Amino acid sequence: MDTEKRMGLPVSVRILSSEKENECITTLRFELPHLKRDILAGEFVMVWIPGLDEIPMSISFWEKPVAAITVKSIGDATKGLANQEVGEWLGIRGPFGTHFSQSSEHALVVGGGIGIAPLRPLVTTLLKEQKKVVLLVGARTENELILYDFETLKNPDFTLLIATDDGSRGRKGYATSVAQDLIMENDFDMIYTCGPELMMAKLYEIAKSKGIEIEASVERYMKCGCGICGTCAIDPKGQLVCVDGPVFSSKKLDALGDFGRSYRDSTGQKKKY
Ligand SMILES: Cc1cc2nc3c(=O)[nH]c(=O)nc-3n(C[C@H](O)[C@H](O)[C@H](O)COP(=O)(O)OP(=O)(O)OC[C@H]3O[C@@H](n4cnc5c(N)ncnc54)[C@H](O)[C@@H]3O)c2cc1C
Ligand code: FES
Repeated sequence: MDTEKRMGLPVSVRILSSEKENECITTLRFELPHLKRDILAGEFVMVWIPGLDEIPMSISFWEKPVAAITVKSIGDATKGLANQEVGEWLGIRGPFGTHFSQSSEHALVVGGGIGIAPLRPLVTTLLKEQKKVVLLVGARTENELILYDFETLKNPDFTLLIATDDGSRGRKGYATSVAQDLIMENDFDMIYTCGPELMMAKLYEIAKSKGIEIEASVERYMKCGCGICGTCAIDPKGQLVCVDGPVFSSKKLDALGDFGRSYRDSTGQKKKY
């Protein structure tokens, strides 16, 4: 495929709404009327913030033609993006990458921090298909929780559980220890996860030891978002997170040697977790 076709040109979108999920998390909605297909849970877009940067963002909501992204302000681009006002313009390329399989009948979904963003449309889709879902949302403290409208969702197939490191809301402790208890008490056929890599790596080990399938959405620095620049390559086989991921199945995670061990910073230098 030629470079231009692979990258695509940014489509200009006007921000329809901007909503605070908590102190440092903002959800922005916009329309993608040009998209001929549905966006699948786990896919991401490259968001161009005029005058600042272009960064990857998961789709956190999709009801054709309305899409949303949920932004955690950590640096220049994300702060600039979260501060964009209703009516201002962004450029969107994509959607790109792999998606969650949605094949589970009884899923444990574990979202840590901003990792809940791509899991939100996944939970919505699974419930629409009358699958059973236990959603475990983890954060360091109550103030950092992102719960969207899951707290008020009434569906007999859906259970919401909360874990905070400091015990300020829900069960006290890491999401991984709560997940371990849940796995002992239930017969899940799949674990879906997105969040801090060490959390996902621990869940991967638990899933492996129990013989349960897992799909994890992995994050790496990205520049092109579509398989051209190599920035997002993971050692030792050089899988590209933007094309081969971001969602990796158990089998693919087995081959990601650096998963849960190391990553590359913005200069390309390898760093240990
Ligand atoms: C597929 C994918 C989907 C994503 N979805 C979301 C989303 O839905 N919501 C959201 O808020 N963010 C998401 N991100 C992360 C987001 O793209 C980065 O936070 C953003 O690019 C940081 O840009 P910045 O200029 O604000 O911060 P920077 O100035 O670039 O970074 C600030 C700090 O964060 C660290 N950092 C930034 N990006 C990464 C990274 N990829 N890996 C490790 N450390 C990093 C830097 O080391 C630095 O310490 C996603 C990333 C990927 C790859
Ligand atoms: S970001 Fe360029 S190859 Fe993945």
